[in-house]
Amino acid sequence: MPLGSTVRAMFGPHERRVSDLYRGLFLDLDDYAAKIAGWSPGARKILEVGCGEGAVTEVLARIFPQADILGIDITPRVGRLYDGPRDRVEFRVAAVQDVARDHPGAFDLIILSDVMHHIPVALRAEIVGAIGQALAPGGRFILKDWGKAATPIHWLCHAGDRWLTGDRVSHLVPDQAKSLILDRLPALRCVEEGHIAPWTNNYTLVFAA
Ligand SMILES: C[S@@+](CC[C@H](N)C(=O)[O-])C[C@H]1O[C@@H](n2cnc3c(N)ncnc32)[C@H](O)[C@@H]1O
Repeated sequence: MPLGSTVRAMFGPHERRVSDLYRGLFLDLDDYAAKIAGWSPGARKILEVGCGEGAVTEVLARIFPQADILGIDITPRVGRLYDGPRDRVEFRVAAVQDVARDHPGAFDLIILSDVMHHIPVALRAEIVGAIGQALAPGGRFILKDWGKAATPIHWLCHAGDRWLTGDRVSHLVPDQAKSLILDRLPALRCVEEGHIAPWTNNYTLVFAA
């Protein structure tokens, strides 16, 4: 079991609060929510790939009250800390390749949030290809990740990711992530590039199909 699961279990009923405080050191979820809402207004069918325990899924459910949302992850802990509506939000342990094969072109918004640096390098193009297959014509794909930098906050983030999750993380800078997406999905256009508070390490790329 990764160290993070053991540490989290120690917090018992306070786990969610501690998890939110830790996340808040790195990412302002309110700033993120406002930007997502502006990038994809009116999204009705949303796929969150690598949704983890559901923190961003909760944001999506709040800002898109009309949308059906599917959160998928390879971890059995998928959606475990989610505390939002259940009638239109579903969590599954699933690979995006399988979802894309079963539901091609089905999602008008796909989001990959702080996941890319956890995916083994050799698998990244395949995951991006599956996202392209699942994206509806005219849909949007939002990539949010954490860019590497020679700064203490990056070292803290990298150490947390590496030792709490046990994954062999490797971070891309925005241009590398953009090339990865457009090399595999040349029909997409990158329509927005930006940052989320409070650190410029938090970068976002928005692609339109
Ligand atoms: C730092 S967590 C981010 C969770 C969530 N997206 C969020 O922002 O709260 C990284 C997540 O990526 C997931 N992940 C890693 N490789 C994956 C893959 N190949 N397919 C789907 N999810 C993956 C992990 O299981 C983990 O839940």
